[in-house]
Amino acid sequence: MALLEIKSISVFYNKIKAVDNLTLFVEKGELVTLIGANGAGKTTVLRAISGLIRPRNGSIIFKGIDITRMRPDKIVQLGIAHCPEERKLFPRMKVKENLMMGAFLRKEGVGKTLEWIYSLFPVLKERENQLAGSLSGGEQQMLAIGRALMSQPELLMFDEPSLGLAPNLVKKLASTIKNLNQQGLSVLLVEQNVEIAFSISNRGYILENGKVVLSDSVEELKENDMVRKAYLGG
Ligand SMILES: Nc1ncnc2c1ncn2[C@@H]1O[C@H](COP(=O)(O)OP(=O)(O)OP(=O)(O)O)[C@@H](O)[C@H]1O
Ligand SMILES: [Mg+2]
Repeated sequence: MALLEIKSISVFYNKIKAVDNLTLFVEKGELVTLIGANGAGKTTVLRAISGLIRPRNGSIIFKGIDITRMRPDKIVQLGIAHCPEERKLFPRMKVKENLMMGAFLRKEGVGKTLEWIYSLFPVLKERENQLAGSLSGGEQQMLAIGRALMSQPELLMFDEPSLGLAPNLVKKLASTIKNLNQQGLSVLLVEQNVEIAFSISNRGYILENGKVVLSDSVEELKENDMVRKAYLGG
């Protein structure tokens, strides 16, 4: 059984069907990317997995447990963390306080995880007493990732982590995500920068109007005419 199994979910905002009968899975240890145009439904899929919005039908199974109607905090506790599109940091709290918020459900080993995150992102250690709102965009993105990691997830979901970052930072971020994945973390990555996403992912799903129109290994997707035309600039 896969780590995460989404079976035919549909998600609505009132009458708007944002996700339409979508099925996908993430195996343990995989890095899977979700690609699609603006409004395709990518964020909605991640929100459904996190329990922030409920699918009208279908099911979401994580580690064999049905989480379709579970509360968001329970889902975090089970091992899913979400790095949202808008980062959702607490700008008037210190960097370290933001990180600790990510660990609010944990009782043990928090100090060790914090040390590990500081070793991944030394700049967060240097600025641990600075207000989060005063960090640069790239530093805020590192903080958002660090905070998500504080819950010690087994599956980490990223929603457009490269948004607003300078090209050299985008590359660095991609290699950080790949590194985490190679340390055993399973990843579901939503990314507009398809080239970057393909450079680190194992498999991908192409979403259009809330539907999966294609899913394959990244090698195959790169060779696909439709994908090349629509997402890789010819
Ligand atoms: N809170 C909401 N209320 C009503 N409609 C919404 C809401 N959030 C999203 N939608 C609609 O649902 C559809 C999917 O939106 P979603 O945010 O999941 O797309 P996305 O693929 O993440 O797009 P983007 O690449 O722009 O972030 C869109 O048509 C959007 O307008
Ligand atoms: Mg989105």
